[in-house]
Amino acid sequence: MAKSTALLLMIMALSYLTSMANSQVKNIFLLAGQSNMSGLGGVVKNLWDGIVPPECSPSPAILKLDANLQWVEATEPLHADIDVNVTCGIGPGMPFANSLLNKTSSLGIVGLVPCAMAGNKISEWQKGTFLYNQLVKRAKAATLQEFGVIRAMLWYQGESDTVRLRDANAYKGKMQQFFTDLRSDLGLPKLLIIQVALASGGKHYTEIVRGAQLNPELANVVTVDAKNLQLHKDNLHLTVSSQVLLGHMMADAFMKTNSTTSSS
Ligand SMILES: *[C@@H]1O[C@H](CO)[C@@H](O)[C@H](O)[C@H]1NC(C)=O
Ligand SMILES: *[C@@H]1O[C@H](CO)[C@@H](O)[C@H](O)[C@H]1NC(C)=O
Ligand SMILES: *[C@@H]1O[C@H](CO)[C@@H](O)[C@H](O)[C@H]1NC(C)=O
Ligand SMILES: *[C@@H]1O[C@H](CO)[C@@H](O)[C@H](O)[C@H]1NC(C)=O
Repeated sequence: MAKSTALLLMIMALSYLTSMANSQVKNIFLLAGQSNMSGLGGVVKNLWDGIVPPECSPSPAILKLDANLQWVEATEPLHADIDVNVTCGIGPGMPFANSLLNKTSSLGIVGLVPCAMAGNKISEWQKGTFLYNQLVKRAKAATLQEFGVIRAMLWYQGESDTVRLRDANAYKGKMQQFFTDLRSDLGLPKLLIIQVALASGGKHYTEIVRGAQLNPELANVVTVDAKNLQLHKDNLHLTVSSQVLLGHMMADAFMKTNSTTSSS
């Protein structure tokens, strides 16, 4: 009797502690797109230089959902265990989270859910695809046991759709379909999406894709422009300082829009 009571108390205490820890993750952000979202800042010839600028520092207030669907303290490279077939470096996720925490003292813990993968087209994010399913699965795992609320998705993709005219012309419709399906499958019809308008990497049809990104014609989609951000010598990926700047831009966009829209 006494033994089982003690056991019961122990189980209660444990589940209380667990729910305490879980309830700390208040603000969940999904990160999706291609390599600039994974982050290849500081990567040269498939080697990351290992330099973490202060804006990308780890913090007990920044967690990430790892590949095993566990919350762990987030460190650069944020996407290393998700985008496993490229060498990841610095992306916009950590500077975004640090910038948010820097702007609001009462925010609580930020939970990042990395889901980006290098080198994909928007057609590879349509409902039913591997990337789409993985995104939905990870988003749902992130909100299990009342971890918190998904505040927004950060989305940076499109480069692979600038090569062929047919892809570029189809971009807007596919983008709208993807956002709409995702919102529906997550039960978050007003989910805020903060996306990045590509700057030209020299591909033919960048302007068509940019046009769709700058004028998404869908509610609660906010676009920040990467136009003046600096690229690596490879002319393909953002530098570390550009990624830091982009993280700040996305945090500003979130602060500005979140006061007028509700993602829950
Ligand atoms: C936080 O903000 C202060 C003042 O704007 C700035 O000096 C500092 O670098 C910021 N820290 C981070 C981690 O972004
Ligand atoms: C990584 O590459 C391997 C070998 O080509 C492939 O089997 C696997 O599906 C790739 N992983 C992802 C996440 O794309
Ligand atoms: C990375 O972003 C820059 C700026 O938007 C763009 O020019 C470049 O094509 C992108 N690269 C990839 C591989 O997405
Ligand atoms: C964002 O908006 C939601 C819903 O209105 C609110 O509960 C939350 O506190 C806001 N977050 C920030 C960081 O302002």
